[in-house]
Amino acid sequence: MRIDIITCVPDLLASFFSHSILKRGQAAGVIEVHLHNLRDYATNNQKQIDDYAFGGGAGMVMMIEPIDRCISALKAERNYDAIVYTTPDGENFSQETANRFSLLENIIILCGHYKGVDQRVRENLITHEISIGDYVLSGGELAAAVMADAVFRLVPGVMNDETSALTDSFQDGLLAPPVYTRPADYKGWTVPEVLSSGHQAKVEEWRFNQSLERTKERRPDLYSRLTEN
Ligand code: ADE
Repeated sequence: MRIDIITCVPDLLASFFSHSILKRGQAAGVIEVHLHNLRDYATNNQKQIDDYAFGGGAGMVMMIEPIDRCISALKAERNYDAIVYTTPDGENFSQETANRFSLLENIIILCGHYKGVDQRVRENLITHEISIGDYVLSGGELAAAVMADAVFRLVPGVMNDETSALTDSFQDGLLAPPVYTRPADYKGWTVPEVLSSGHQAKVEEWRFNQSLERTKERRPDLYSRLTEN
């Protein structure tokens, strides 16, 4: 799977993708990340990518031409299944979106900045507008990193233990249960006995009940969706 990220600050993302499991996934050849500097697609000597808004008002708007040139250059090389624009007024990103995207082959993520992109980009060049939460970031790069990370870790071969992605919080609509490791007793703070009982069915039952309890307590919205079905 390949993700192309279009950004005006590629350095901000370069180190993120050169670490840990994403580095391993790239080395294993199962995922690819390509960063594209939007300024390389500017048409004037000043490498301009933003301009004043028609109608006036504070804040600059990202110009359509450099974005169109960059996306067109990428599309000339391969087909893209999704062209995503990161924006606080987009659809909420969720584990379900990550699951869906992880099945795609090629994705472009365009990082928004300033007051956002010229509306004609959204209407003619983009297939998905996505927000990572109800807060405003100073640029779309962190949103792109969050999405790419959540999607890439679901691609077979990226995680060491592939089954581990299946037991993540949200994967089955539940929050994950608590986990423990040695020592079994630390300062009198002990580990639930069932976990060392060797009785796997009981362990699974305990984990499931803990998941249910946590979800009910912390995310009543998720819990009520479960009990509705
Ligand atoms: N750009 C600025 N804020 C954002 C958000 N919450 N999600 C996605 N992109 C953004």
